[in-house]
Amino acid sequence: MPAVLFRTDNDSPDQWREALTKRIPDLDFRVWPDIGDPEDIGFALVWKAPAGAYQGMTNLKAICSLGQGVDHIFAEPNLPEGAHILRIVDPWMAQAMAEWVLLQVLRFHRQGMEYEQFQREKRWAKLPAPETSTRRIGILGLGALGAQAATTIAALGFDVAGWSRTRKEIEGVRSFAGEAEFDAFLARTDILCCLLPLTPETTDIIDAGTLAKLPKGAFVVNSGRGAQLVEEDLLAALDNGHIAGAALDVFRTEPLPADHPFWDHPKVQVWPHVSAQTNAESGADQVAENIRRIFAGEQPVNTVSRERKY
Ligand code: NAP
Ligand code: GLV
Repeated sequence: MPAVLFRTDNDSPDQWREALTKRIPDLDFRVWPDIGDPEDIGFALVWKAPAGAYQGMTNLKAICSLGQGVDHIFAEPNLPEGAHILRIVDPWMAQAMAEWVLLQVLRFHRQGMEYEQFQREKRWAKLPAPETSTRRIGILGLGALGAQAATTIAALGFDVAGWSRTRKEIEGVRSFAGEAEFDAFLARTDILCCLLPLTPETTDIIDAGTLAKLPKGAFVVNSGRGAQLVEEDLLAALDNGHIAGAALDVFRTEPLPADHPFWDHPKVQVWPHVSAQTNAESGADQVAENIRRIFAGEQPVNTVSRERKY
């Protein structure tokens, strides 16, 4: 059987080795840098492998992301032609992400930022109670993660819309599609939540122009990828009061540098890329199934389009 390469700067290999060998007992699981002959590798399980990572792997049939996003795979300038690009699509992660996005929506909706400030000032003060049905939530991306976040939030009675490349039919969620409907989507969004994959089309998508099209006092939540947000533009919009607050789980540079203005900004909450962490036990069935399929010459599941890059 060909070997499986495991290469990540994010996780220890132990949980994945255990979870995969439980499912494929004779698995030849090789952890970078002890990979032996690169020609033995038939399947690569990676997260942010550096450029040139697949050199000499002439028998590589598939590269699978150790997460739902695959932008780190497409960052490789010499991606082996013909290898399938795969990802994890895990309901456990979709649940985690829906919880995290809901947490941010509820904090902004229920004036959490303001009451946290009142507490710092030891001030007992009341604001007018907010109305759920008129709070407009906008989800950028209605895929595996965005669709579940949208339905979770809609179930509480918020006015929810989503924006995607193609039109969706999701109960309780108004669908906006394509560039032509982007501005209308923004104009009706009080809390913008980004769950887009990072591609050439979505890089810098939340910039000064996009922020200006949101209503004054809107909030921004980003758990897609850091490079989708132009950080200086968000800072300017927070400082001039057009944007009221932001909750960010992803950043252009991770870990967020110690001198980054987001750390101390009173209107920004920083999370260390944890909104939906990969879970070896819940993800292992599909990865093991894909290893089996790839080595049997069958069509894998959870494939990614090289053309669309997601
Ligand atoms: P997905 O299933 O591939 O869904 C992507 C969605 O984005 C789809 O609805 C797609 O539209 C839409 N989209 C893509 N490009 C677009 C464009 N140019 N214009 C409009 N809509 C566009 O992805 P997913 O599994 O939901 O994951 C989304 C992203 O979340 C990942 O790529 C990753 O960056 C991020 N993520 C973050 C964390 C974290 O912990 N922070 C964890 C997991 C994932 P169509 O449906 O019309 O194609
Ligand atoms: C995490 O960011 C992922 O893409 O799974």
